[in-house]
Amino acid sequence: MDRYSEKVKYEQNQIGETVTELLFESRWVSTPFPNNPLWRRMGAVFDPEHFLYPSPPVDLGKVDIDVGSLEGTRVLRCPIKKPGSRTVLLPTELAPMTPFVRFVCETEAFANQHFEEFWCHITFENTYVEAKKTQRVAGWHVDGFQGTRVARHRAEHSYLWATSKGAEFCLQPFFVSHLDPTRHNLFNTLAEQAQEVNSYQGIARHVYLIDPYIVHRSPWMDVSGQRSIARITFTETELEDPTNTRNLSLGQPQDYAPRIDVRDRLSTYDGEIPWAQYGIKG
Ligand SMILES: [Fe+2]
Repeated sequence: MDRYSEKVKYEQNQIGETVTELLFESRWVSTPFPNNPLWRRMGAVFDPEHFLYPSPPVDLGKVDIDVGSLEGTRVLRCPIKKPGSRTVLLPTELAPMTPFVRFVCETEAFANQHFEEFWCHITFENTYVEAKKTQRVAGWHVDGFQGTRVARHRAEHSYLWATSKGAEFCLQPFFVSHLDPTRHNLFNTLAEQAQEVNSYQGIARHVYLIDPYIVHRSPWMDVSGQRSIARITFTETELEDPTNTRNLSLGQPQDYAPRIDVRDRLSTYDGEIPWAQYGIKG
């Protein structure tokens, strides 16, 4: 069986010897789809019950970024803001991303009352993707599921963007709270329960707000070509992953002990879904 961590492509690198400082005060901005539950639960402690109540991601609208000069760039979870600050330190290497960073952080600084206490990490990839392949690890998943490694805390959330074929979202209830996160692989359960008919595709160059209960996947490309994706993630705890791209200006060691990815040791839940636990019959 392939180990999850062996499917993740990454190159250790570091950027940010010089940065642009961007300060984000809390100023009113429009928040589209104000009744979407994502706005209301932003800043709440992680709770897998939310998997039962599907909602689409929030489409914040279109943002144009000229990614032409970033061909071949791969930045993974690079920290750009630390808790205790409202200033983003954007590495010069990512300067073309400034309109996206501003758009996202202005939204966040207004909508998340804990903005100052949160970490902010950026991911950007501009790579060649072959037809019938996905740019990133394939398969339904969520970002920010809280399993066993750290105590439960405020749920993370991310803003996604892509130049072609946006991420796909699966809008249906998922029954997961019977799983034991120390033994069972959540992503396998999502894959088993997901119905293709419930799959919707995001729009290219639109910014989507997601949280850990939004099941999504990288799309299969129809034609070969260059594709860019960007993601900005806000978390209460640092994403301590040794595969992070380091931001040299952040003044943080950013040295994380190698660890065995918890997903490498989990197996598929092999019982029936205990429907009665969810108040219905299967
Ligand atoms: Fe994801």
